[in-house]
Amino acid sequence: MYDCHNRQINYLRVSVTDRCNFRCAYCMPEQGVKLLTHNEILSYEELLRVIRIVSRRGVSKIRLTGGEPLVRKGIVRFVQSISELEGITDLSMTTNASLLAGMADKLKAAGLTRVNISMDTIVPERFRQITRGGNIADTLNGIDAALAAGLTPVKLNVVLTDIITDRDLVYFVDLVHREQISVRFIEYMPIGDNQVGAGPSIEEIKAKINSLGKGTLKPVLDIYGNGPAKYFSLPKAQGSFGFITPMSEHFCGMCNRLRLTADGKFKPCLLSNQEIDVRSALRNGATDEQIAELFYSAIAEKPQGHTLAKSQPDKRFFRKMSQIGG
Ligand code: GTP
Ligand code: 5AD
Ligand code: SF4
Repeated sequence: MYDCHNRQINYLRVSVTDRCNFRCAYCMPEQGVKLLTHNEILSYEELLRVIRIVSRRGVSKIRLTGGEPLVRKGIVRFVQSISELEGITDLSMTTNASLLAGMADKLKAAGLTRVNISMDTIVPERFRQITRGGNIADTLNGIDAALAAGLTPVKLNVVLTDIITDRDLVYFVDLVHREQISVRFIEYMPIGDNQVGAGPSIEEIKAKINSLGKGTLKPVLDIYGNGPAKYFSLPKAQGSFGFITPMSEHFCGMCNRLRLTADGKFKPCLLSNQEIDVRSALRNGATDEQIAELFYSAIAEKPQGHTLAKSQPDKRFFRKMSQIGG
């Protein structure tokens, strides 16, 4: 399926819940967000039906997001049911990994291909601060479990805020030497009114990595992924670094994705308020063809690019990042 800007849409990000056991400062306000009720959230049967319909119309990559997808009961069986659909070649998840240690093997056996893990700092007090209560040990155990289970390539997502320190960069450089992990630095997107201190720029991060005595970052092209990251590596590293630049160099021209929110709306773009209601159709007896029409209209409404400005919080958005799934 191509949109009117000649972008092939083959990737659906499915948010299975708006709940999260963390409250990251860049993702939601301190007091949290008003949570959806049980009835507002699509059931697994409803989600699966939408995924089945779009998988027959060009979508081959599915990413499960949240909130935190692992807090929703029954997630392993849901993964299994998606993996049994014909035509899904990549079934991944974005998670904070705090609950992953006990679930990684089961998720792998159910057909999950790989995980991207949010981890913004290795310093325990700072991790607790940015996640508002998270324990770094749980996330580190989750990363180990993901590697051991073969949920690979494992990627870490590091949102650039003032929480990051030189100690983190030293740790990440060591990590990519030890493990086949990709550490990805993401520019903060100021949607909502989050109170997040500005972090270093991507250029500053690259310069710092280059100064640590392990050689110079060189582009690598063969990292598996469906997203906008650009990858680099160091001469003796097993892993790599990725850079995601929605603000300084946006990648809308290559956008291949649509989102489905936990309450059943197609979102043509992360950084737009446009939504197409699928839940009403699902609950009012719509045929598969009618659901597919909603998918096509979401593709038709995909904007050419976003208009988010880097400098200040943008309050136009009625959903927080945690209610979209990033
Ligand atoms: P891979 O398939 O492994 O490349 O995953 P991904 O990068 O698509 O997914 P992930 O959930 O790990 O997202 C990483 C970061 O990229 C998050 O901060 C997302 O919010 C951001 N991101 C993903 N898709 C988009 C997008 O379409 N637009 C913008 N502006 N940011 C995005
Ligand atoms: N800006 C950039 N990335 C964000 N994420 C959450 N909120 C933001 C934001 N405001 C990232 C998280 C998670 C991914 C899905 O989105 O780090 O890994
Ligand atoms: Fe939760 Fe992920 Fe948002 Fe952090 S970034 S609050 S882990 S949904």
